[in-house]
Amino acid sequence: MTEKDFIPKSYPAAVEQGEVTWQSPSNIALVKYWGKLEHQIPANPSISFTLDSCRTTTKLKFQKKQKPTADFDFRLLFEGEEKDAFRPKILKFMQRVEPYLPFLKDYEFTIETSNSFPHSSGIASSASGMSALALCLMSLERQLDPEMDEEYFTRKSSFLARLGSGSACRSIEGELVVWGMHNNIYRSSDLYGVPFRDEVHDNFRNYRDTILLVDKGEKQVSSTLGHDLMNDHPYAETRFRQAHDNLDKLKKIFRSGDLSEFIKVVESEALTLHAMMMTSQPYFLLMKPNTLAIINKIFRFREETGLHLCFTLDAGANVHLLFPEKEAQETQEFIEAELKQFCQNGQYINDRVGSGAKKMA
Ligand code: DP6
Repeated sequence: MTEKDFIPKSYPAAVEQGEVTWQSPSNIALVKYWGKLEHQIPANPSISFTLDSCRTTTKLKFQKKQKPTADFDFRLLFEGEEKDAFRPKILKFMQRVEPYLPFLKDYEFTIETSNSFPHSSGIASSASGMSALALCLMSLERQLDPEMDEEYFTRKSSFLARLGSGSACRSIEGELVVWGMHNNIYRSSDLYGVPFRDEVHDNFRNYRDTILLVDKGEKQVSSTLGHDLMNDHPYAETRFRQAHDNLDKLKKIFRSGDLSEFIKVVESEALTLHAMMMTSQPYFLLMKPNTLAIINKIFRFREETGLHLCFTLDAGANVHLLFPEKEAQETQEFIEAELKQFCQNGQYINDRVGSGAKKMA
């Protein structure tokens, strides 16, 4: 599908008012998206596990205006309270998606949103939040166009979510989602995420992700600024090629179930992401002493037990611990005994791979 396919021609139905609720999960990238071109086109393909319990719930209420106006009209409630700080991001989103959802100025909206994970935990809520909002708007569009098929609904939801926040396009479906053109991934696209349809070994079923909250503060580097650092970055081209190669490697690994190889790719991706930030101008050091302490503990744990716990990082100090279900008990004991001490207030979140967003009754 191309961008043009997402521009509707006309809507057969009329909708006066209503409401719809979606719950959409966060996701954790294994091959990282870092660097983008205009219009939220990724500089390289990425792949992520969709998560299960880290979710945003968004209710969208809509009421048709008597007459369309020149403005977007919306109220924004976050966890029950008016949240002005989030308005600019939503406004920008509406401006970006308007060509594809030409009804936006015809309605007054109330967006009520809340997260399952603790407020300001340093967990990116843009992926779950933007995907949930995109899905709500698509539900309204489906009422305006009742013949819309499921495939179009899903692809366009991901397409719109991407315009809100790149990684959000990987949160619509599960369990592994690829975003960005890759020669060896069937139907991969720069415009939206697609489920990874190749064979996946049972070792990766129900894979765990325990998120250690090392630093719950505000993000030091906004993702927009972060991605910009890859323009004119001395290692950019090599890095983008490497992401393609790592996806090829993961494709083989998912088939074979080779967990040792999985660890090599995933940890290298995380460290490369941080290496890119450390070697850009300006440069950023987003790991904290506790991030490093945790990583060293993980290395030692693997050496001593032969188990397959590994880490990945986003653009911050928190650590995502990835491990197979069959090693969950021993790993969980290790987290409680050895890693919890490095978390702010001892806080961590146990999550696992999930199947994607859900519409609520
Ligand atoms: C480090 O999706 O937050 O988490 O498109 O500017 O909203 P924008 O960026 P965003 O970037 C996420 C980057 C990452 C890696 C990843 O999730 O692939």
